[in-house]
Amino acid sequence: MTQTPASESTDSSQIDEIRAGYAFEGGVLKLGAAVVDGHAHADAPVQIPLSVLNRHGLVAGATGTGKTKTLQLMAEQLADQGVPVFLADMKGDLSGLATPGEGGDKITARAADVGMPWAATAYPTEFYTLGGKGTGIAIRATITGFGPTLLSKVLGLNDTQESSLGLIFHYADKNGLALLDLKDLRAVITHLTSDEGKADLKELGGLSSATAGVILRNLITFEDQGAGDFFGEPEFETGDLLRTAADGRGIISCLELPQVQDRPQLFSTFLMWLLADLFHDLPEEGDVDKPKLVFFFDEAHLLFDDASKAFLDAIEQTVRLIRSKGIGVFFVTQSPKDVPSGVLAQLGNRVQHALRAFTPDDAKALKQAIATYP
Ligand SMILES: Nc1ncnc2c1ncn2[C@@H]1O[C@H](COP(=O)(O)OP(=O)(O)O)[C@@H](O)[C@H]1O
Ligand SMILES: [Mg+2]
Repeated sequence: MTQTPASESTDSSQIDEIRAGYAFEGGVLKLGAAVVDGHAHADAPVQIPLSVLNRHGLVAGATGTGKTKTLQLMAEQLADQGVPVFLADMKGDLSGLATPGEGGDKITARAADVGMPWAATAYPTEFYTLGGKGTGIAIRATITGFGPTLLSKVLGLNDTQESSLGLIFHYADKNGLALLDLKDLRAVITHLTSDEGKADLKELGGLSSATAGVILRNLITFEDQGAGDFFGEPEFETGDLLRTAADGRGIISCLELPQVQDRPQLFSTFLMWLLADLFHDLPEEGDVDKPKLVFFFDEAHLLFDDASKAFLDAIEQTVRLIRSKGIGVFFVTQSPKDVPSGVLAQLGNRVQHALRAFTPDDAKALKQAIATYP
């Protein structure tokens, strides 16, 4: 192939620009190298400093463009640099992390091209499941640990109903009734709305039997969606996610979700609790050299599909606040449009895979995707 001198000079000035733009001090996540006119330039790496990972991020691109691979690459580099990682694996794509990969000529050649030599490595990985399905450790929370505020959000309760739920928790607490699973909570509400419970209900004040009835019905719907599996003892210790292995590498905690793919509510409920619990337990960090934990939600659209306004607001707020605790959250999804704008606005790091437009709809989506970049 012959190149005109003119194109060669654009080439090198573009490379210089990329090199300068991605030059950082301190630890970095290496994503690849600049490719100009089909040539990979290993000396112009494309990378993100670890110190900004708590500004959260988005990995977007059509199916098959390598998002899940990117996620895996980022997770492994973080682990190598002592940062624990949490991966929500919707499709069962990530379970290979625990065993060394298999290379192949293409992979080794490409890796050398972009200056990221490839070696098969197994990572310190822990597997978890929701609701006891699958082989990992079951993650559960108690109703008490969950609390009335968060429960109201996931049940889609209004303010009046939320304060009523607060009264129900108060009643249970005062009477020494343990609220471990949904059944326990249902029993308390059923009692308060029964003939024998009338006096207790009256004494509580501010809780109408009609509102208690509404809460009870919402609770039953919630349980029908499979949420019951998530509540109970022993409650998961979220601090376990912050551990490092004996060799100093960050532990990769992988939550396997293929079995609950059709129950996004269970998954989103869990996420809300996890972030809220971490937020509650962790100290303020200010600026960090590297994050204390990075979350990756693959197939993140499942998280937001059909979610209530209250739930979206809660996610938005939690994502905003958790940053100061040194925690980064990355959403991985096909299009930035899959992420609600209030959340999207807080995702400071962006990795966009192959933007393509085959159909008029694609073209429209492409324009919208581009419009979300600063
Ligand atoms: N950088 C890459 N070089 C070569 N093959 C890749 C690369 N990234 C991904 N692949 C392959 O492309 C396929 C799709 O990748 P995947 O990460 O599952 O895409 P997505 O999650 O966007 O649907 C997989 O078989 C993967 O191994
Ligand atoms: Mg994928």
